[in-house]
Amino acid sequence: MALTVFILRLAVCILAFPMYLLDFLGLWNWICKQWFPYFLARFTVMYNKQMESKKQELFSNLREFTGPSGKLSLLELGCGTGANFKFYPSGCQVTCVDPNPSFEKFLIKSIAQNRHLQFERFIVAAGENMHQVATGSIDVVVCTLVLCSVKNQEQILQEVCRVLRPGGAFYFMEHVADKPSTWNYFWQQVLDPVWHLLFDGCNLTRESWKALEQARFSKLKLQHLQAPLSWELVRPHIYGYAVK
Ligand SMILES: C[S@@+](CC[C@H](N)C(=O)[O-])C[C@H]1O[C@@H](n2cnc3c(N)ncnc32)[C@H](O)[C@@H]1O
Repeated sequence: MALTVFILRLAVCILAFPMYLLDFLGLWNWICKQWFPYFLARFTVMYNKQMESKKQELFSNLREFTGPSGKLSLLELGCGTGANFKFYPSGCQVTCVDPNPSFEKFLIKSIAQNRHLQFERFIVAAGENMHQVATGSIDVVVCTLVLCSVKNQEQILQEVCRVLRPGGAFYFMEHVADKPSTWNYFWQQVLDPVWHLLFDGCNLTRESWKALEQARFSKLKLQHLQAPLSWELVRPHIYGYAVK
């Protein structure tokens, strides 16, 4: 099986040769950072439509984590275009973090469409190092479709724990690797290298639940789900929340 995966991967990589050439020349990363926000803006409409009820269920108890200030301070990690804004409660103070500055104009549009929120700031940074955010200053961190792309999941979760106040919560909804016995996992393995290049560092075969189980949260509520999405490769999901 491993040999078949290797041969098919090679064939796919040959087909995607122009992309690899641009990557070799150091141009692909720049192109990807520009085009990815446009792709994501379209993808988000489809994703939110198909996952509406799951997102509503996930975010239904956000208010329970409102801190002593009486306002819910929420940090959206890997905010992208602001796909989750409409699910947040009124008056929620939102800080956005994303390493790609090209998302700013999409964020501005989402902020204008979600007047019920109090937008704080957009920090251009990777989640592995959010030194701009004070320790223990956040009630809730939200991360959707991000752990698949980050360089270091363990470091991200350490940073999440640092910025959360004691008793604060980390909400997640992530696509993950399918069960190893499935055809879907086979194709996830075959397409992973090209997918990674095409979709700005996203990985299809991450078992992100393991990093969450190992992180230092006091409580973890995690569910596996076959998401009702058109794209089978990203159907296996985990979602839930963890309390610091
Ligand atoms: C697939 S998009 C998801 C965006 C948004 N959370 C959503 O649900 O639509 C992945 C996002 O993670 C961001 N990202 C990639 N690496 C990151 C990192 N190390 N730390 C924080 N965000 C990261 C990307 O720039 C992109 O905005």
